[in-house]
Amino acid sequence: MTDQTHRTAKLSVGEKTLDLPMYSGTLGPDVIDIRRLYADGDVFTFDPGYTSTGSCESAITFIDGDKGELLYRGYPIEQLAEKSFFIEVCYLLLYGELPTAAQLEDFENRVTNHTMLHDQMSYFFRGFRRDAHPMAIVCGVVGAMSAFYHDSTDIRDAWQREVASIRLIAKMPTIVAWAYKYSIGQPFVYPKNSLDYASNFLNMCFSVPAAEYTVDPILSRAMDRIFTLHADHEQNASTSTVRLASSSGANPFACIAAGVACLWGPAHGGANQACLEMLREIGTVDRIPEFIARAKDKNDPFKLMGFGHRVYKNFDPRAKVMKQSADEVLGLLGIENNPTLQVAKELEKIALEDEYFIEKKLYPNVDFYSGIILDAIGFPTSMFTPIFALARTVGWITQWKEMISDPQLKIGRPRQLYTGPTARDYVDVEKRG
Ligand code: CMC
Repeated sequence: MTDQTHRTAKLSVGEKTLDLPMYSGTLGPDVIDIRRLYADGDVFTFDPGYTSTGSCESAITFIDGDKGELLYRGYPIEQLAEKSFFIEVCYLLLYGELPTAAQLEDFENRVTNHTMLHDQMSYFFRGFRRDAHPMAIVCGVVGAMSAFYHDSTDIRDAWQREVASIRLIAKMPTIVAWAYKYSIGQPFVYPKNSLDYASNFLNMCFSVPAAEYTVDPILSRAMDRIFTLHADHEQNASTSTVRLASSSGANPFACIAAGVACLWGPAHGGANQACLEMLREIGTVDRIPEFIARAKDKNDPFKLMGFGHRVYKNFDPRAKVMKQSADEVLGLLGIENNPTLQVAKELEKIALEDEYFIEKKLYPNVDFYSGIILDAIGFPTSMFTPIFALARTVGWITQWKEMISDPQLKIGRPRQLYTGPTARDYVDVEKRG
């Protein structure tokens, strides 16, 4: 906290007036420290969905929802998406600064040294049904890493924490690619360390032993940019899940598996799959009004997938880059007349002119255009969320490391407003009526 000017906020609770300390970060609104509220005021705060609650101090990622700004360690996402690449972004997130050439080379070497999975893990994959959703497999396999890598589960040991971090970043592409290969009945493809991070992932997904396969650099660049855009997003649901799980001292693989599970939901990472499926269901531009009407109907649970965000109330800067990238990739591939892209563009246009969406400040989010690019690369919709998980792993790990090294670390334990029955006596079954 940068501000030590001893400002306070006054809160009256009954007869008492409490002076609550206030702090300023380097960016963003000030915070009121309520840690002594229960002890001094005998009350809890009530904030379901944590819309006004800061759960931690963090120096990793900053979002200004009104400006539509996203910074990783201070660097705007637009600049990183254009000039940097995912493995460099991983270094930036993990260690706080852009690497020198030597640091980058060393980091890439360390990551590529860990890309293979313990060979016995292939049997673990084979235990799943072929029609399992790849997210179910990824969630299970990441959790199972704690059964295979015992030498990096002691969270009190900085060296083990570092090895676990590198292992997760290095092995996620292999795990996600193998979940895909397993689901389509093709042999697992081993990682190729001569390839860059994104190309290696594409190679493991799309090459087969029977044929030559060369990764298209256009697709590899698009894949890498998708990874960069998803790498971290401060205290979202899955990151907060990772932090809460790790506050109990659980091992890193268990914590990241918890993050994967949370990401799966359609309100979070599952939205990319849901969005492309929605765009396909709409199918043609003339059906858009019908879907807009449904999204506005209070009695219909339907929402426009890929629209809206808890924090961004202006625009999602990742969506802007993603839209531009979708145009570029489809153009370079010569499929710019892709009907789904046409529906997406028209839907965006109509929604952004509609009073309902304007009033509620609903804009396209990162998931609105990412599915179109992933589809053009050749992925089925079921792979979209696992790819998000792959990219977000570095963010989860960075947040986990920051939390573990915080001397103020306490187990996360929210309180509640209890509305159930008051204490009552047990009634024997024959007397219940
Ligand atoms: N379509 C139609 N109406 C919407 C939408 C939408 N996509 N999103 C929000 N609204 C309405 C909502 O019904 C509510 O209306 P009212 O005030 O009349 O009750 C109002 O806008 C505020 O929405 P909210 O649900 O209270 O906002 P939230 O901050 O709790 O939820 C959200 C944010 C992202 C979960 C939500 O906008 C949503 O479900 N969007 C669709 C799913 C999606 O695209 N998720 C990806 C998020 S970005 C990637 C990620 O984080 O993983």
